[in-house]
Amino acid sequence: MTMVFMFLLAYLIGCFPSGLIIGKVFYNKDIRQYGSGNLGTTNTFRVLGKSAGIIVMILDILKGFIVVFIPLLFNQDVHGVIIGLFAILGHVYPVFLKFKGGKAVATSAGVIMGVNPLLFIAVTITFFIMLYLFKYVSLASITASIVNFVLSIVFMDWILIVIAFIIMLIVIIRHHSNITRIINKEEPKITWM
Ligand code: G3P
Repeated sequence: MTMVFMFLLAYLIGCFPSGLIIGKVFYNKDIRQYGSGNLGTTNTFRVLGKSAGIIVMILDILKGFIVVFIPLLFNQDVHGVIIGLFAILGHVYPVFLKFKGGKAVATSAGVIMGVNPLLFIAVTITFFIMLYLFKYVSLASITASIVNFVLSIVFMDWILIVIAFIIMLIVIIRHHSNITRIINKEEPKITWM
């Protein structure tokens, strides 16, 4: 029972739509109507600017980070990464927004940060190298999720490998429109790097 409660709690935390709330409350804008239409950090930067983007990024990372420690609160012997997956699912498929949420990147980063800071640093470095080279946030995100999976295979135990694989699948699936745009050379590049 406690286990089900922990999964539900993590899912509900993941459901918190940071981009939507910050946009509506402080800018009177629904970011789903602008840019890529995504609720995540990148589209918040794009539509609402740097300050809002940084706040949404921190909130979305935090969602993933804090849930990893839920088992400690309840004295349960379950790996934090399993609970983390539920926050990611909440972020991507939020029940309150007809299951249309973000693309899993920031919340997954938070989970990885909570589970293994070294892995987080390696994945973040990959992300920024790809961003510097190609200027596509989406491509950097996809590559980072793949590198996370590969590094997990090499250095982590089986449960992290399984969850890293699921995260990679979710990230790739959620970026299908970005992939099409990259192929058609229509994906917007960042200009600040
Ligand atoms: O964080 C999601 C990012 O990888 C792509 O976002 O808005 O360009 O589709 P967006």
